Amino acid sequence: MHKIKTYNAISSRGLTRFRSEDFQVDPDLAEADAILLRSHKLDASAIQAELKAVARAGAGTNNVPVNACTEAGVVVFNTPGANANAVKELVLCGLLLASRGIVLGIEFASTQTEIKDEAELSKLMEKEKKRFKGSEIFGKTLGVIGLGAIGSLVAEMAIDLGMKVQGYDPALSVEAAWRLPSKVRRKENIASLVASSDFISLHLPVLDSTRDLINAEVFASMKDDTCLLNFARDEIVDSKALLEALESGKLGKYVSDFPRPDLLGREDVISMPHIGASTNEAEENCAIMAADQLIDFLENGNIKNSVNFPASFLDRTEDAGSCTRLAICNRNVPKMLGQILSVLADQNINVKDMLNKSRDDIAYNLIDLEVRPSEEALAAISEIEDVIKVTLL
Ligand code: MLT
Repeated sequence: MHKIKTYNAISSRGLTRFRSEDFQVDPDLAEADAILLRSHKLDASAIQAELKAVARAGAGTNNVPVNACTEAGVVVFNTPGANANAVKELVLCGLLLASRGIVLGIEFASTQTEIKDEAELSKLMEKEKKRFKGSEIFGKTLGVIGLGAIGSLVAEMAIDLGMKVQGYDPALSVEAAWRLPSKVRRKENIASLVASSDFISLHLPVLDSTRDLINAEVFASMKDDTCLLNFARDEIVDSKALLEALESGKLGKYVSDFPRPDLLGREDVISMPHIGASTNEAEENCAIMAADQLIDFLENGNIKNSVNFPASFLDRTEDAGSCTRLAICNRNVPKMLGQILSVLADQNINVKDMLNKSRDDIAYNLIDLEVRPSEEALAAISEIEDVIKVTLL
């Protein structure tokens, strides 16, 4: 029985993927094989000996202590793309809210509760509407920073709306490059992208390399009155530089899913309570994807969409029932495989199939064996220097 501890309200469409005969899913478990969460900030103390995986039902993993997980051999999963459409639709909303007097206009109209006469109300609306005039997004230039699952959907949507779209991604994958509409002009650096954009939309994870990426220098390269949309993460925009850019008029509007106390109440800032992925569909998609990834990992050791482990897939042989699989995580140093295999050879255990992958400082092995190794053999493998975790599947 695999134990899954949950935090946050995870969609039941995802939770029901865990077969009750094989998985115990419970928010109150003291120890677990895996953790499934959404926005709960996970403390490193949650990484107990039994823990093998953490799955985030969402794209960002900045609420998970990823480095500590990696050191403990715990695989961290996310669900790239599962909520991309929800975020894309809110970016569209942000573009429109920033361009037209919608927020102030609604506020104005809905607060005229003293006026009971229809004609009087209508006259007031017609008189005041000039205060809420805006401009159209058609023909304007959108710069998209980060061209992954969400950024590429945003780019495609903006093209469909008649915008000119340019993109920059410091770490564009081959897969993402293929997905990108051909009409997106690729920029070589942020400075050239922001210098020629009317709107800029951020779609990057928070990493050491992206923290405060939008800083005073980047703001200085922008055109006056630029609109910046941040549906990625608060930490990507330098807070001091942001305030200065708004004060100087360099930035005309800041639309953000991450409210900041010093920006609340400003007419040039539109804040939302981190609702980019808050749709029924996105919550279901994320929960299903996270659950399926956890199930395949806990049952077969396969890894898909991890932020700290290599993608790994080894088909189980036809007679899977009689075949035992070992999943071994070790530091990515020479001679590990030889040592592991020699323990198995000493036990006269035949290897039927195997996979060895690495990512940065971590290596991951799936080894299918003809017979189940003894407890002594498992202990001997665990004791090899630089072996981090050994799991029998
Ligand atoms: C994400 O990282 O995809 C979002 O933050 C998901 C969420 O709102 O939970």
